Amino acid sequence: MLEELAHHILDVARNSLEAGATRVEIVVEEDPAGDLLRFSVVDNGSGIPPYVQRHLTNPFFTTKSGKKVGLGLPFLQAAVERCGGNLEIKSEVGRGTKVTATFPYYCWDRPPLGDMPRTIVSLLAGNGHLNLCYRHIFQGQSFKMDTAEIRSRLKGIPLDAPEVLLWLRQYLEENLDILFGGGDHEVARRAG
Ligand SMILES: Nc1ncnc2c1ncn2[C@@H]1O[C@H](COP(=O)(O)OP(=O)(O)OP(=O)(O)O)[C@@H](O)[C@H]1O
Ligand SMILES: [Mg+2]
Repeated sequence: MLEELAHHILDVARNSLEAGATRVEIVVEEDPAGDLLRFSVVDNGSGIPPYVQRHLTNPFFTTKSGKKVGLGLPFLQAAVERCGGNLEIKSEVGRGTKVTATFPYYCWDRPPLGDMPRTIVSLLAGNGHLNLCYRHIFQGQSFKMDTAEIRSRLKGIPLDAPEVLLWLRQYLEENLDILFGGGDHEVARRAG
């Protein structure tokens, strides 16, 4: 499977869910002119104790039972390093965690953005109560999705009902198309 940033974002946000987060905020910022692509995932989960923080980029470290390796963050760290980018993990026990990955926009080795609607829908599937906020900035324009707003319009239908997720996927695809269509985005170019 081709490596995509959207897969990394899904991995990082799954860590948030596994840490008991009820609120997750994902921001993707693309600034080709400034040669920058950055994403961040903020959660209100359990946080990472200092002794775990020291091992985060060690693939043979995981706190999850039944597992021998924890590959999510080391894999992201490797992708960032191949491009001379930066991975920052800030966490406070009892408060939450913020993971920020920064890449040069123009780097041959940078994974493409990939399918963000799929990542968002995958996070919500089976997690209808999650408060998820997703903001995407491209060339200074931005799009924002907040499950709180969507939920208020659903009148009691669960957010993770199959028909809602199907609609959400289309809604995200259409809005990202509009966001990217105004510029010369790699996702728009690949599709067109
Ligand atoms: N957002 C987070 N909140 C709390 N703990 C976290 C968070 N992200 C990572 N961790 C801790 O860091 C460890 C390593 O994370 P990493 O994603 O690299 O591996 P993993 O989640 O254990 O396994 P894998 O990603 O391969 O399923 C986790 O086991 C967990 O203890
Ligand atoms: Mg993980």
